[in-house]
Amino acid sequence: MSSSEVLYLSRYDVEKLNIPMEKIIQVVEEAFLEKAKGRTEVPPKPGIHPQKDAFIHAMPAYIPNMRSAGVKWVSGFPENVKRGLPYISGLLILNNPETGVPKCIMDCTWITAKRTGAATAVAARYLAKPDSRVLGVLGCGVQGRSNLEALMMVCKNLEKVKAYDTSSENLQRYVDEMTAKHGLKIVPVSSPRKAVENCDLVVTAGPILKNPQPVIDESWFKDGGFACPLDFDSYWKPEAMHSMDKFCTDDRNQLAHYRKLGYFSSIPNVYADLDEIVSGKKLGRENSRERILSMNLGLAIEDMATAILIYEKAKKTEIGKKLPL
Ligand SMILES: NC(=O)c1ccc[n+]([C@@H]2O[C@H](COP(=O)([O-])OP(=O)(O)OC[C@H]3O[C@@H](n4cnc5c(N)ncnc54)[C@H](O)[C@@H]3O)[C@@H](O)[C@H]2O)c1
Repeated sequence: MSSSEVLYLSRYDVEKLNIPMEKIIQVVEEAFLEKAKGRTEVPPKPGIHPQKDAFIHAMPAYIPNMRSAGVKWVSGFPENVKRGLPYISGLLILNNPETGVPKCIMDCTWITAKRTGAATAVAARYLAKPDSRVLGVLGCGVQGRSNLEALMMVCKNLEKVKAYDTSSENLQRYVDEMTAKHGLKIVPVSSPRKAVENCDLVVTAGPILKNPQPVIDESWFKDGGFACPLDFDSYWKPEAMHSMDKFCTDDRNQLAHYRKLGYFSSIPNVYADLDEIVSGKKLGRENSRERILSMNLGLAIEDMATAILIYEKAKKTEIGKKLPL
């Protein structure tokens, strides 16, 4: 492709390429290993907030080893559901790392769903009990689906999901779809408490709220459990987070940045970043009783590691549309 052209990949194009989840988990883990070696550039994401509890974030990253450089421009608008629009939408631009010239523009909805699930799976590989059997999912939307798909790849004994959603319609759709797709026992439950109790794994994926009214109590969470909130601290009470033996995150710089903006007013000290765990600089799970939480805010290296795979496959299979720059 000439440097005066850019490849455009629509949402449909990206989905059609259908990169398998195993591969995404693999490259996301590799990206964390690169970060551990100090070989990535990933500044905390700045954002604008045009509506209450809505965001549009700029997420740049560079991973030299993968020859991937770019930025994701992603929005989350909780009220969109009423307009029949997705909560998360946006675009990702890949640049040529030698010249800086943009080479690809792609829809980032699919990437955001998949790479977030993949990051949860990477965290679970090191922080969850290897024989985890029961998963609680609170928020049965896009992330509730992709996180289940990814967790099944690393928690091979998973047999039951307790699913909770504030929308009974969304909940039923999730139960029907996930039962048909994965053949696991997907049980709808009527309260957050029922979705957390007796679970080995808990993923919360409701809306991110700047002034949260969290409900998950420390006593609901089982010893030996692993939790991965994707909706910041909207669901977990401060005492519940403080009851963890290990409180991890995908990037403490980014967490500190969000604290300055007024989020995460009462969280424990960070034990480790995921890259430190993945690279062995810090120990992951040490026994079957530890309570561990990984506060994954979402990191642009996850996006760039996945986007370059998409771009390379699109070029090879001649998918997408060349546009003049
Ligand atoms: N940390 C990350 O890397 C990352 C990445 C992408 C999305 N997210 C976050 O994940 C969350 C879910 O995103 P999504 O794309 O799956 O959205 P979605 O709209 O597809 O799904 C959200 C679901 O949560 C339900 N819900 C709303 N309030 C709830 C509550 N209090 N309890 C339980 N369910 C509730 C909705 O009915 C809906 O089914 C958002 O907060 C989003 O910002 C985080």
